Order: sequence, then structure tokens, then C-alpha cells
Amino acid sequence: MSKKIKISPSILSADFSKLGEEIVSLDQAGADYIHVDVMDGHFVPNITIGPEIIKRLRPYTKKVFDVHLMISPVDKYIKDFANAGADIITFHPEATKDINKTIDLIKSFSKKVGISLKPHSQTELILDHLSSIDLILVMSVEPGFGGQKFMPEVLPKLEALKKIISEKNLNIDLEIDGGINFDNCEIAKNAGANILVSGSTIFKENNGNLKKNIGLLRSK
Ligand code: DX5
Ligand code: ZN
Repeated sequence: MSKKIKISPSILSADFSKLGEEIVSLDQAGADYIHVDVMDGHFVPNITIGPEIIKRLRPYTKKVFDVHLMISPVDKYIKDFANAGADIITFHPEATKDINKTIDLIKSFSKKVGISLKPHSQTELILDHLSSIDLILVMSVEPGFGGQKFMPEVLPKLEALKKIISEKNLNIDLEIDGGINFDNCEIAKNAGANILVSGSTIFKENNGNLKKNIGLLRSK
């Protein structure tokens, strides 16, 4: 049975001077999740927000905080993000020395576990861990910035993962992240994604009509 399509707007494209209000607007506009891009200037060449900001944003919505950690090292910060109110904690396999340990650490805080693959990171990195995780985030841009161009060359990776998940009858969400817009959201869903992350399309298209843009990504 195919999973319901969920939209996870990335607040990287939101107005950082009023993130609380922006999150309320996303909630009211029908976002399923709130995608929070955490960057440390080390794993990726950009710096965004940390656990303290997430803790301040938590009371603004009950929606799932889908936290994408583009940081390394990562283990030493899991506790802070869990306590700040993250619901899904997604990390990059290249950011940890021991994938199992990071998975167990996230689970020890009763949070859902996601693993993210950069465009050139191969599925082999995570195949041994599929039975322990809840979500795979397939990146369709190089991590670090919003507003980049979608990389269709990641679609075969998405299709391969979808096939493996179906064959093994696993309950794993497939999330695609980067450059998602009204022209490519359908091919992303057809390739197997059931969660679409979008920042610039949701915040910029149709004069920033969040409800319309979220609806279009979901229904197209
Ligand atoms: C990039 C982030 C993405 C990005 C998506 O490193 O992980 O979530 O913010 O933004 P758009 O939709 O503008 O590509
Ligand atoms: Zn992201």
C-alpha cells in the first residue's frame, strides 16, 4: 500500500528574523513536517542554527520537527537536539565513526532515526542498517544551501531504495531533499519519495503563498 505523501518545508528558506511566526504560518498552511536544516560550517560550508533555537521554536507548533543534521562530529550533539524537541533526527553516515552507535543513541531518546545520502553517497553505506531506521533522506542537491538546482541523477538511487524497502517489507519513509519544485515533484514521487522537502519553492513561488505551494507539491 503506497504511503501518504507528506510535505516537509525547509525553514532554511524562511525569514530567520521571525522564525517563530514563519513556523506558525507553515503549520497553518498545512505542512506535515517542519524540516530544520542544521549546518556547522565543518561538514558543510555553511552555518545555520543549533539546538537552542530549536528549543525556542518548539512551542510554536505541534508538527513533527524533521531535523536534518549536516554536522560532524554528530554523536556528542544528539542529546541536545533530542531534548530541544526534534522528532526525527537525520544524520549523514560520513559524519560518524560508528553508524550503529549513532542510531542507538538517537533511539535512546525515543526519537525516529533518519540517514541522509548526499548525491554522490552510495546506498551501500546504509544497506546494513535498514532494519534499524525509520527514514532515508535522499539529497538531490549538494548539502549546504537552499535554492540549488535539482539533480535528477539521484532518481535511480531513490528507485533502488524503494525496491529494496518493498522487497524487504520495511516501514521506511523515503524523503527527497533539494531543488524540489512543481516541475520535478511528480517524478520524485514516482521514483519512490513519500516525503518532499522544499524550501525555496514553498517560500518563494506564487508570491510566497505557503498554503498554495504546499498543496501544489502534494497534489501534482
Ligand atoms: C540543503 C538542505 C535542503 C534545502 C532545501 O543542504 O538540506 O533541505 O534547504 O531547500 P531548496 O528546496 O530550496 O533546495
Ligand atoms: Zn535538508
